Amino acid sequence: MEYYYAPMQGLTTALYRHIHHEFFPGTDQYYTPFLAAHQTLNFKQKEIRDILPENTRQVPTIPQVLGNKADQVAWAVAEIARYGYREINFNLGCSMPTVAKRGKGAGFLKDPDLLDRFFDAFFENLEREYDLSADGKSGEKGCGGVVKTVFGQEECGGGAPENLSQKRNTIRFTVKTRIGTMDAFRADDLIQVYNRYPISLLIIHPRTAKDLYGNTPDLETFGKMLEESAHPVCYNGDLCIEKDLEELMTRFPQLERVMIGRGLLRNPALVRELQGGEKLTEEETMRFHTRLYREYLEIYPDSRQVVDKMKGLWTYHGSWFKGKEKELKAIRKSRTAQEYEAAVARLYG
Ligand SMILES: Cc1cc2nc3c(=O)[nH]c(=O)nc-3n(C[C@H](O)[C@H](O)[C@H](O)COP(=O)(O)O)c2cc1C
Repeated sequence: MEYYYAPMQGLTTALYRHIHHEFFPGTDQYYTPFLAAHQTLNFKQKEIRDILPENTRQVPTIPQVLGNKADQVAWAVAEIARYGYREINFNLGCSMPTVAKRGKGAGFLKDPDLLDRFFDAFFENLEREYDLSADGKSGEKGCGGVVKTVFGQEECGGGAPENLSQKRNTIRFTVKTRIGTMDAFRADDLIQVYNRYPISLLIIHPRTAKDLYGNTPDLETFGKMLEESAHPVCYNGDLCIEKDLEELMTRFPQLERVMIGRGLLRNPALVRELQGGEKLTEEETMRFHTRLYREYLEIYPDSRQVVDKMKGLWTYHGSWFKGKEKELKAIRKSRTAQEYEAAVARLYG
């Protein structure tokens, strides 16, 4: 089984991914929150920082792009590839109303014909510049000409990154999708569209955009998409404890990859536990958060921004701490670095 850390805007920053990978090795790939492809053909500084090789080099990172215009998304892919990435993910799963209402992310899924025309133009554009490795072996280890890392180095025998120019023309394009915008009636049409294009991996979060994070994942539709897909499939959605994965694997034993988001925010050692390793300890959480907090303080000039960032994480991570509601509430209410540090000290006290 391969484990991928889901992208989560505002939470899984380059720094978070780096420190998580150091403390809890075992996650095979980390997806960045989306970089938006606009008509300005410019990324924000914040987006660029998130994929700068010096910020991500130690971590197997897959940048993600959001957009709905073929030329803009092709520009974004080429721009990201300039940093040396050889695998890029396309976001067809974002359910945020501001995104979905503009026909992007999961909002793009309401019209499979439009999506088909988009891919047609997009791949025509992309194929002029790159070989699309549609071998379907995401993260394949070993040689055989398969690009393993996202930095263009085939990691056979390790060593320094190879001459990028030799590999410039190979790229793997993957898709992260929901099953529809308002409903899943056209999930089958979506799969037929995906099947027509050189997509290396299809990550399916079986909810509609309308669901946001409510309802339960629609495993029946997922099963049909899995069966129909010409591409390798990765499951994503609501995997929080070992039992969730066991149940999923009982139903879909052919799955070889899962992506986990909130489950890993709640329990950063979840992958280790799923692999049969040690359970997360309170002391580990303390060291992990202290390190993250200190390093954020070095990056952000305003410590209140850091407190806000940390509070975002505690929203999820707090649920791991049973019976400490009062202490967690104090963390949530803290506004200054002093208040935050005092509240965290009380939690661990
Ligand atoms: C706060 C937050 C931000 C997210 N940002 C992104 C994003 O940038 N790109 C994306 O594809 N999905 C994003 N997602 C969706 C997750 O990647 C994932 O698909 C979803 O949380 C379901 O998986 P889970 O149940 O394991 O968390 C976000 C989810 C949350 C909760």
